[in-house]
Amino acid sequence: MKKSVFATAAVASIVASNMAVAGPEAEVLHWWTSGGEAKSVAVLQSEFADNGGTWTDMPVAGGGGDAAMTALRARVLSGNAPTAVQLKGPAIQEWYEEGVLADISSVAEAEGWADVLPASIAGHMKCEGTWCAAPVNVHRIDWIWANADVLKSNDIAMPTTWAEFNAAADKLMAAGIIPLAHGGQAWQDATVFEAVALGIGGPEFFKKAFVELDMDTLKSDTMVEIFDQMRTLRGYVDSNFAGRDWNLATAMVMNGEAAFQIMGDWAKGEFIAAGKVPGQDFLCASTPGEGYLYNVDSFAMFNVDGDDKKAGQDLLAKLIVGQNFQKVFNLNKGSIPARVDVALDEFDSCAHTSAKDMNASNEAGSLLPSYAHGMALRGAQAGAITDVVTAHFNSDMSSADAVEMLANSVANSL
Ligand code: GAL
Repeated sequence: MKKSVFATAAVASIVASNMAVAGPEAEVLHWWTSGGEAKSVAVLQSEFADNGGTWTDMPVAGGGGDAAMTALRARVLSGNAPTAVQLKGPAIQEWYEEGVLADISSVAEAEGWADVLPASIAGHMKCEGTWCAAPVNVHRIDWIWANADVLKSNDIAMPTTWAEFNAAADKLMAAGIIPLAHGGQAWQDATVFEAVALGIGGPEFFKKAFVELDMDTLKSDTMVEIFDQMRTLRGYVDSNFAGRDWNLATAMVMNGEAAFQIMGDWAKGEFIAAGKVPGQDFLCASTPGEGYLYNVDSFAMFNVDGDDKKAGQDLLAKLIVGQNFQKVFNLNKGSIPARVDVALDEFDSCAHTSAKDMNASNEAGSLLPSYAHGMALRGAQAGAITDVVTAHFNSDMSSADAVEMLANSVANSL
């Protein structure tokens, strides 16, 4: 383990003395292609370059990362894995079980990650006791974003219950404004669904349904109510929603075409990249209800040959959890740092709300992993739920039928 740190140091000093050898290299697969996302990943690219690294970018467009994960599978199957991959949640352990992940414990130990990461985040980064991924942030899922002027001119306050949300949406519809900016892609449907489920069902319900896959909870009357609210929300999206990318939905809120978007706080990265100011141009609030749904982005290193690539992996891992990167990256990304020792002075009010709510939820036992963003379940089970959510949202299926289908779909995926 010490060997690779030594190798990194040796490579760095050779580069420093200007000898003609290759420096750290990394081909990085990620799905950060929107305005805010691209600005954020550029922070890592430039820190990597400043430290002598050569970055080969492998962006795979597609919010939520489904397309990126398909590309990853193809690369690994052909025996040509990328050096570093944006990967998170139980998918990290799934890839580890395939025997294709590199052990980055030497970097984690040298950098003291165990002392600066909350235990819950560190847990996601470990594979049978070794460190197998490096966390960049904490995104919150259960947010509502709103156009401040639209709300003001229609005399609407940020909703604090789903009934208030529905009343506001009815009023906006009557005024000719699209209440909910939404992109009809399965992962976006799932994002809205899990925020509604947390709000209506509460944290205990959420945990039973989407972490423990408890059949009684999946089949419950509460689940019927959640699908009812999804049907109501379907009535608040415009007729062009099918296939729309999430950042285009955010743009609809920015330009006042729509009032609200229910989306993780990468949407804030989009507002910020466009020069919009929170509290002034746009508003943020947690979706109605208790709890906090977290989504931690991270990078895993894949087994590759070559000292230059291995040095690139060590350097990347070190930079990713570095204090400066965690600050600058997250200021752009809309998330908050994964490290506990990064001062939040330069962060905006939405980030402060996120940090405060995360700590409170942690203490109250209502800090929960996002199922829609691959933090709670393995791919097959998460997919089984999302298939039903999307099928319901895009048809006139009744809530009772959706619940029955949900229970069957999950049961078949186990
Ligand atoms: C999430 C990811 C975020 C953001 C979003 C939209 O799954 O965690 O960082 O990129 O997808 O692409």
